[in-house]
Amino acid sequence: MNRDLLLTLYAPTWLGQILECHEVLASTNDRARELLDDMGPRAHGAVIFADSQTGGRGRMGREWQSPPGLGIAVSIALWPEVSAEALACLPLAGSLAVLQALAETAGLESHLKWPNDVLADGKKIGGILVESRLQGDRAAGLVVGIGVNLLHHEADFPESLKATATSLLLASGKFVASESFAACLMGRLSTCLASGLDGPRSIVASAAPHWVHAPGDTLRVALAGTEIVGTFAGIGPDGSLQLDVDGKRRAVHYGDVTRVRLAGA
Ligand code: BTN
Repeated sequence: MNRDLLLTLYAPTWLGQILECHEVLASTNDRARELLDDMGPRAHGAVIFADSQTGGRGRMGREWQSPPGLGIAVSIALWPEVSAEALACLPLAGSLAVLQALAETAGLESHLKWPNDVLADGKKIGGILVESRLQGDRAAGLVVGIGVNLLHHEADFPESLKATATSLLLASGKFVASESFAACLMGRLSTCLASGLDGPRSIVASAAPHWVHAPGDTLRVALAGTEIVGTFAGIGPDGSLQLDVDGKRRAVHYGDVTRVRLAGA
């Protein structure tokens, strides 16, 4: 990521006053955490990019592959003083910003898979990992980490991901330079994260038309060694997944979703 070029395309708002572009990092989330630990609230809005990561992390303990120059690996350091309810919608705010940037830079329609995956052609094109830390019983900032596959060809994905992963190039046929995508993403994040920090309602409403799930789809949610199977009944005002399970409505706040059956199938 060429920082000078990026700064000709994006004028920092509250987001990006601190802007680091690294060739290689273990994980951009770790670097953002370092800034929060060193600077506390002054790190709020810092943005860290890396062209590649040697230890990129995904949700649920998974690995996130960031081969050199093929995608976006970025983390945003936040030190918000807001309710836990507002914090809970930040992953969704991040994935909505990715969806908007894909549309704006490549005209690519994508969808959201709960809780915060971005899909194109039914395959994963981006994901969000939010990590927070407590000091005693006080929040000590949080990191929103975002990975987007931009320029991968099929051969660039490991065998295990070929059937389930895609990139902006594969899904749209367009080559979008990482600086162009990053600039657009930062603009969208600047708005979506600020809106999310004000409360979940507007983010949840903006995300509503973009869910890949349809009412009546049967979903399985894996969480903490157990699983819940139910029919999709929407997304709650707080961003929770609403499932009908044995005639009762349940709100799910965390987990990994697999679709078992399409509505009506
Ligand atoms: C997921 O879908 O499981 C979340 C993937 C998040 C990957 C990004 S890449 C930038 C940041 N640094 C990391 O180590 N992970 C996130």
